[in-house]
Amino acid sequence: MPQFSIGLVGAGAIGRLHADVILKTDFCGLAGVADPTEAGRRFCEERGLAWFPDHRQLLEQARPDALIVATPNNTHLPISLDAIAAGVPVLVEKPVASTVEEGEALAAASAKAGVPVLVGHHRRHNPIIARARELVGSGELGRLTNVTVLYTFFKPEPYFDMAWRREPGGGPILINLIHEIDLIRFICGEIESVQAVTSNAVRGFPVEDTAAVLLQLANGALVTISLSDTAVTPWSWDLSSGELPPYPPQPAPVNSHFISGTLGSLTLPRLELWRYQGEKSWFAELSQDALAVTRTSPYVEQLRHLCEVARGETTPLINAADATRTLRATLAVSEAARTGRRVALTSG
Ligand SMILES: NC(=O)c1ccc[n+]([C@@H]2O[C@H](COP(=O)([O-])OP(=O)(O)OC[C@H]3O[C@@H](n4cnc5c(N)ncnc54)[C@H](O)[C@@H]3O)[C@@H](O)[C@H]2O)c1
Repeated sequence: MPQFSIGLVGAGAIGRLHADVILKTDFCGLAGVADPTEAGRRFCEERGLAWFPDHRQLLEQARPDALIVATPNNTHLPISLDAIAAGVPVLVEKPVASTVEEGEALAAASAKAGVPVLVGHHRRHNPIIARARELVGSGELGRLTNVTVLYTFFKPEPYFDMAWRREPGGGPILINLIHEIDLIRFICGEIESVQAVTSNAVRGFPVEDTAAVLLQLANGALVTISLSDTAVTPWSWDLSSGELPPYPPQPAPVNSHFISGTLGSLTLPRLELWRYQGEKSWFAELSQDALAVTRTSPYVEQLRHLCEVARGETTPLINAADATRTLRATLAVSEAARTGRRVALTSG
């Protein structure tokens, strides 16, 4: 069977991770990498990979079966459109685009050409998340009442050497929170409205370092998200789930997500299911079951899914239209904080 070939655009932080994942798998190979920088060229030379200064040359000359777009947000749309025009299915990194309008344009182009676009919300491919979605969807927790998400962690000072990370748009809402917004939509349901308060009191940069976010879901559940990139805690999905290589294992397991319903509650990533065995009452003892899943890398699973999507065996777990809804809700958090108003999300 011929090997399935992937082209990679962008050899930065996440692009290199994609390249490493591809090079370690046996179900696909790397057709080449496009990145105009000297660092990109060297990255390819060191690994014996075909290097291209431009993604169009990569598409024309290496003719990959699928393309991963791992470049800055404002380039997602034009590069993905070129891949669609060439008939090449795309995995574009999150956020799907810089604006809702661009996300919608990409969704429309994908639908018109019949070329699938998968968006890199990798957490959806984590078996822990899949199990939680299944459990909530099955009604095991009853009617959802509250969800509490802790997303507090510490970014070291050199991280802020790049000026754009100190400016609005470069902070934890648009860079990090978008993952939580997508996770909530995926597991718990659509978001109807957003309220938020932000603070830059610790670092004093124009961008926020801390936020408190309140979401109302269409099913009536209320979600609170505590976000900070300047707090020394282990309470974040990135540190607690162990799914991302740069973050080391922590000395003790912790949870970062608490999903509550009228029949039971569930913690993530530990998948502890709390229920009453008999009478439902706060005077009775709760039982706790730890649900088992086989842990696999969401990046490997995402890549496997990309191959299946590109072969026409399935449709994207999150396409450009769906990811645009995640982007819209995330941008609404910034708007709610800026205006001090509750932002209603129209379905779109
Ligand atoms: N899913 C995740 O876990 C995750 C994690 C980090 C970043 N991201 C997303 O991935 C994207 C890239 O982020 P990053 O942190 O890797 O950025 P980065 O700055 O480290 O890397 C971007 C790379 O793209 C290259 N590049 C820029 N314009 C290009 C073009 N037109 N053609 C080819 N290459 C080009 C740059 O030279 C650079 O090497 C962003 O959209 C970001 O939001 C996703």
